[in-house]
Amino acid sequence: MMNSLCAKTMSTIIILTLMVLFSFINSLVNAAVTYDDKAIIINGNRRILISGSIHYPRSTPEMWPDLIQKAKDGGLDVVQTYVFWNVHEPSPGKYNFEGRYDLVKFIKLVQQAGIYLHLRIGPYICGEWNFGGFPVWLKYVPGIEFRTDNEPFKTAMQGFVEKIVNIMKSEKLFEPQGGPIIMSQIENEFGPVEWQIGSPGKAYSKWAAEMAVGLQTGVPWIMCKQESAPDQIIDTCNGFYCHDFHPNRPFKPKMWTEIWTGWYTQYGGPILRRPAEDLAFAVARFIQNNGSFFNYYMYHGGTNFGRTAAGLFVATSYDYDAPIDEFGLLNEPKWGHLRDLHRAIKLCEPALVSSYPSVTWLGKNQEAHVFRSYSEACAAFLSNYDPQHSVKVTFQNTEYNLPPWSISILPDCKTAVYNTARISSQSSQVMMTVLSNGLSWQSYVEETTFSSDSDMLSTDGLWEQINVTRDASDYLWYMTEVNISPDEGFLNKEQGPLLTVMSAGHALHVFINGQLSGTVYGGLENPKVTFSGNLELRAGINKLSLLSVAVGLPNVGTHYERWNAGVLGPVILKGLNEGTRDLTWQRWNYRVGLKGELLNLDTITGSYSVEWVEGSLLALKQPLTWYKTIFNAPDGSDPLALDMGSMGKGEVWINGESIGRHWPGYIAKGNCGDCSYAGKYNENKCQTNCGQPSQKWYHVPRSWLKPSGNILVVFEEWGGDPNGISLVQRTTGKVCADIYDGQPSFKNWHMALSRKYNKMQPKAHLSCPPGKQISKLEFASYGVPRGICGNYHEGICHAHKSYDAFQKNCIGHQSCAVTVADEVFGGDPCPGTNKKLSVQAVCS
Ligand SMILES: *[C@@H]1O[C@H](CO)[C@@H](O)[C@H](O)[C@H]1NC(C)=O
Ligand SMILES: *[C@@H]1O[C@H](CO)[C@@H](O)[C@H](O)[C@H]1NC(C)=O
Repeated sequence: MMNSLCAKTMSTIIILTLMVLFSFINSLVNAAVTYDDKAIIINGNRRILISGSIHYPRSTPEMWPDLIQKAKDGGLDVVQTYVFWNVHEPSPGKYNFEGRYDLVKFIKLVQQAGIYLHLRIGPYICGEWNFGGFPVWLKYVPGIEFRTDNEPFKTAMQGFVEKIVNIMKSEKLFEPQGGPIIMSQIENEFGPVEWQIGSPGKAYSKWAAEMAVGLQTGVPWIMCKQESAPDQIIDTCNGFYCHDFHPNRPFKPKMWTEIWTGWYTQYGGPILRRPAEDLAFAVARFIQNNGSFFNYYMYHGGTNFGRTAAGLFVATSYDYDAPIDEFGLLNEPKWGHLRDLHRAIKLCEPALVSSYPSVTWLGKNQEAHVFRSYSEACAAFLSNYDPQHSVKVTFQNTEYNLPPWSISILPDCKTAVYNTARISSQSSQVMMTVLSNGLSWQSYVEETTFSSDSDMLSTDGLWEQINVTRDASDYLWYMTEVNISPDEGFLNKEQGPLLTVMSAGHALHVFINGQLSGTVYGGLENPKVTFSGNLELRAGINKLSLLSVAVGLPNVGTHYERWNAGVLGPVILKGLNEGTRDLTWQRWNYRVGLKGELLNLDTITGSYSVEWVEGSLLALKQPLTWYKTIFNAPDGSDPLALDMGSMGKGEVWINGESIGRHWPGYIAKGNCGDCSYAGKYNENKCQTNCGQPSQKWYHVPRSWLKPSGNILVVFEEWGGDPNGISLVQRTTGKVCADIYDGQPSFKNWHMALSRKYNKMQPKAHLSCPPGKQISKLEFASYGVPRGICGNYHEGICHAHKSYDAFQKNCIGHQSCAVTVADEVFGGDPCPGTNKKLSVQAVCS
C-alpha cells in the first residue's frame, strides 16, 4: 500500500520534472516569451507585470493614444483587451476592422508607447457586451450549441480564432516577431460552465486548448477562471481578491487576469465604487503571496456605444470606477494611488522574481512577507488584516505603524515607502458644467398603426423576437386585429375588456387604435414582463399593436443562446360576451424596427424624409417621438456629454453615430450608505446614486463633432421634454491633497531609499490638467482636518498659517508642491498628536 503510493508519487514527480524541462527547452528554442512557477519570462528575464484592460471599441481611435499614455504614466507594463467577434464579423465571412474596430491600429499604438499587450481572443468574452461577443448569426447556424463539444460551434470558433491569429502574425505583432503581444487567451471563465455541463464541457476545453496551442503563436495561452485548464495553458484568477488562488500545476505562475476596479452599472441599479485603498491592498496582498502578473479590469472602462451593451439592462456607461474614467480623465485619487503602488512594487521586483517569501506573524492579525534573494536584494510587505484597528508592529527592530486593512511596502526591507491605506497622491473633483441648453428642437411622432402591405411578415401565432429582428433593431411590432361585435355587453359599460400579454422581455408598449394603453418593463431580477390593462375597444375592427423592446442580448449563463425575448404569449382578452378570447394563435403581422430607423432619421439626408414640427407644435411628453436639433461644437478640448435627465428611454445619435441607449427614467435602487475602505469589498458595498437616474450623462466623443452643423437626434419611447437636454463639459474643477505627517510621497522615495529617511519630509503636490492653473485656494488645514475633497472642515487642531505657503507657491501655477512640516505652517499646532494636511484648490 505504502510502497505503491510512494512509487506513484515518485513517477509523477519524474514525469512532471521531465515535462517542465521539456517545455523549458522547447520554449528556449521557439519563443521569447515563456514562464516558470514564479513569473512570465520575456527574453530570459522573469518579470513582475502590471496590466490594465482598455477595450478598443469602448472609446474612439482619437482617444486611444492619450488613454495608452495615461496607462503607461500610471505604471502599466501591459494593456489587455478582449477581441470583439460580433463587431468584426457582422455577417459570416464579412469582416470589419475599421474605426473603433481597428484592432491592429490599437495594438500598434500600444507598441509605439513601449508597452506589451495581452490579447484575450475568447472568442467568448462575456464582458457585459452584446451576446458575450458572439455574432447574432451564430445562433442560427443549424445544429449549433454554444461553448460545448459541438461541431458547428467549434468550426465557427476555430475560424475566427485563426483569422485573428493570422492577422496578428502577418502584422508581426507577437513578441517573438518583434511585436508587443506577450500572451493570449482562449475561452473565458469557462470553469463554472464546465462544472455544470460535465463531460462535453471537458472535451470542449481540451479541444480549445489544443486548437489554440496548435496555432503556434510563440507566446503563452491562458484560460481564466478555469481550474481544469489543460497543462499547456496557464489557468488564472478573476475576482475582487485573488491572494488565495493557486494555479492548477506547480510549474505555472500565479496570475490575476481581472482585478475588478469597481463594477458595471445596470439600468435600475446604483453606481458602484471601489475604494482605492482596498484595491491597492488587494494587489499588495496578491504580490506578497507569490503573484507576478495582475491586470485591472477595467483600467479604462469607457462607453457601450450604439447597441453594444449586453442584456440585461447593462447601461451605456461602462465607467467601472476605473482609474481612467469613462471620458478619459484621471479618476483621482485612484489612478495616482495605484501609480504609487506600482512604483513601490517595481522597486521590489529584483527580490520578488528571485525568491519565495518567508512569512512570519507580527501580531494576531499582522504578517511580514520577506523576499530575500541570493543577490542580497530584500523586499518586505508588512500587512495588517484587522479591518478596524491600526497597529504598531516591530519588524527587524524598527517600529512601523500599520493603519487598519493595509499593507506597507519596504523595497529595502527597511523603508516603508508606501502604505495601501495612505493616499499621498492628489484627489480631484470632476464637474459637469452646462454649455448650452438653449437647443432648438423639432419633433416627429412615430407611426403606431400600419396598413398591412404585402411585404409585411405575417403568421398565425407569435414569433420569438430575436428570430425575427436578428438584432437589427431593439424594436419589433406585433400587430393584430380584434373584431368586436356591436352587441358586446361591455360597449355599454365604463370599462373595456381586460388584455393580458405575457412577454419574455424586456419592455413592452401596448397601443389600441394608435393610442397608448400602457407600458411595462423588466428589471434586474426578472427581465420578463406581463401587461395587464383594460382596453378601450369599439364595435368593429380594432387595431392592437404591441411594440416589444429588447435591450441587448444576454452575455452570460449556460446556453444563453436559448434565451428568448419578445411576446411569446399567451395574449388573452377577458370580459367579452364569449368570456375569454385567446388572441395567441390568430393572425399576427410583424414589422422590424421603427419607421424612423428605416428612414435613417439620425442622419441629415434621412431627416428630410419626414415632416418635423417645432415651436408650439413640438410634441412634449409623448411616447414614440423623434427629436432633432442642430448645434455647433463647443470650443476647447474638455470631454463632452449630454445631460438626458429630462428624458425617459430610447436612443441618441450625433451625426449618425449612436452614442447609445439612454434610460434616465430608470431610477437606481440600492443600498447606498457609508463606504469604508476597510474590510472585504463586494458589489453590495459602496453603492452610490440611489434614487437618481442610473445614468443621466451620455458621453459625446469630441471626434464625432464638426465645428458647426452637427445633427443631434433623440428617439424617445416613454415621453420626455427635450428642452431639458443640455450639452455639458467635464472638467477637473478642484484638486485636493491629504498628507499625513511623516508619510513619504513618491517623489521623495529616491531620497528615502538612499537612507536619508530622517531628513525626508513629505510634500503636498497639486496639479491642474494641462492648460489650467490653480486659481484659488478653498481650504488648507494642517492639524486634524476632517472630510474629503469637496467637503473639508477644520478639526479641533489647526495651524493658523496653514494657507500661507500654498497662497505663495501655488496660485497662478499649473502645479506646485509644499513641504508638510511644522515650521512651514507656523509651528506645531498640537504637539504629540498625529497630524495631517488637507488642501483644496480650484483649477480654471
Ligand atoms: C510561494 O510559493 C512557494 C513555492 O510554490 C510556496 O512554497 C509558498 O508557500 C508560497 N508562499 C505563499 C505566501 O503563497
Ligand atoms: C423563427 O422564424 C421563422 C420564420 O422566419 C419561423 O418559421 C419560426 O417558427 C420562428 N421560430 C420561433 C421560435 O419563433
